[in-house]
Amino acid sequence: MLKAVYPLLGISLFASYARGQGAVFSQSLSHGQIKGWTGATTCVQGATCSFVNDFRSTTSPTSTPTTPISSVASTSSTAPGSTGTSCASNSPAKGSGTLKFTSLQGFDFGCNSDGSCSPGAAFPPLLQYFGADGAGQMTHFVKDDGYNTFRLPVAWQFFTNYVLGDPINADNMAKYDALVQACLATGAFCIIDMHNYARWERGIIGQGGPTNAQFAQTWGEIAAIYKDNPKIIFGIMNEPHDVPDINLWAASVQAAVTAIRKAGATTQIILLPGNNWTSAATFVSNGSADALKKVVNLDGSTTNLIFDVHKYLDFDNSGTNPECTTNNIAEAWAPLAQWLRCNGRQAFNTETGGGYNTASCLTLMCQQIAFQAQNSDVFLGYVGWAAGNFFTGYVLSELPAQNGTTWTDTPLVAKCMAPNAGAQKGSTGQ
Ligand SMILES: *[C@@H]1O[C@H](CO)[C@@H](O)[C@H](O)[C@H]1NC(C)=O
Ligand SMILES: *[C@@H]1O[C@H](CO)[C@@H](O)[C@H](O)[C@H]1NC(C)=O
Ligand SMILES: *[C@@H]1O[C@H](CO)[C@@H](O)[C@H](O)[C@H]1NC(C)=O
Repeated sequence: MLKAVYPLLGISLFASYARGQGAVFSQSLSHGQIKGWTGATTCVQGATCSFVNDFRSTTSPTSTPTTPISSVASTSSTAPGSTGTSCASNSPAKGSGTLKFTSLQGFDFGCNSDGSCSPGAAFPPLLQYFGADGAGQMTHFVKDDGYNTFRLPVAWQFFTNYVLGDPINADNMAKYDALVQACLATGAFCIIDMHNYARWERGIIGQGGPTNAQFAQTWGEIAAIYKDNPKIIFGIMNEPHDVPDINLWAASVQAAVTAIRKAGATTQIILLPGNNWTSAATFVSNGSADALKKVVNLDGSTTNLIFDVHKYLDFDNSGTNPECTTNNIAEAWAPLAQWLRCNGRQAFNTETGGGYNTASCLTLMCQQIAFQAQNSDVFLGYVGWAAGNFFTGYVLSELPAQNGTTWTDTPLVAKCMAPNAGAQKGSTGQ
């Protein structure tokens, strides 16, 4: 969410440098034996329940992945809205305790949560653009920490040079692509994150603002550029919120998915975001799950259509407080895992975070990640917020301190969030 952060962006290049950015790494979970799962015993009411395939990881838990996460297929063939059969009792998790995506990083998206963006505010966390050494950070995160995914926020306006309906601007795309290439050079997966809150300058996509066709056009052009790279993940929209009609929103999401697939990006993961800031806790209850599960590929399948969910650990889930108050398991991850399993689907926690050196977060974040890893059959991974152009004192900073060629992580990254830290193996961090 980080709602309090955004309004500070775009004041100036320097200010933006200090505050911008999201990042992401995530780590995916692979299959295996779950420990200590005591999930719900019944299927979510109204959900269609079916057997869920194990997520077949293409990489070994201890190595840097070199192949795409191409097997995130679902076997669900359920009809939306049907009541279905009963879900397996306790529908056990099949997580191995190892996730595969983690990380952070970002372009400076320069947008407020109403979708208004400042033209001069966006620039990449790359030294050649007078930003942070994002390339150095990512290399460190991969080599020293075991991260394998980075989320790279960017404004829709940046792609089209602030003209709605225009084709992608080559100069702006070159700047963004420099960051994507720096990400790819590390061997990591790279999430292209359109950070617009379902909006363009306060107008909601498909509901009074930009048309679905305009939204789809930009995504089709982006997909055409990256269609042959299996390490690209399409994050079609960051944190929709207060979108009046969730079914109309699902139609907007469908338009983007169709455009991406038609552009030739037929196999990469596409992240489908729900309403209410993509809250993992209200993904089912506020209707996003039922609406978005109807979104399909060109062939009608849902292969590699992964739900995008966020969750912070502070009291108001805003990601603006140094103290953590919850590990989110009871209110968010356990019920969501059950719904996903019952519906044959998977989700990716593409934003989470906590105070970078706060005792409560060092405990609770480790617990959250361990739980996600235990449920890696339905949770692909997590992405920490944030590094890149953020400044060191930022409340959720995951910026490593640099001294020559040595990078030192924040306590939260070192203890919980880095894949090498071991939290996902089941440690509670204490
Ligand atoms: C949105 O999510 C927040 C938690 O992030 C929750 O407190 C609130 O009730 C949710 N609103 C709706 C309408 O679901
Ligand atoms: C919850 O869903 C309703 C209807 O889809 C929507 O009007 C409302 O804005 C959503 N709540 C949030 C906080 O996004
Ligand atoms: C940076 O590294 C050098 C060489 O190892 C060391 O002498 C110096 O104290 C370090 N600086 C900081 C601020 O840690």
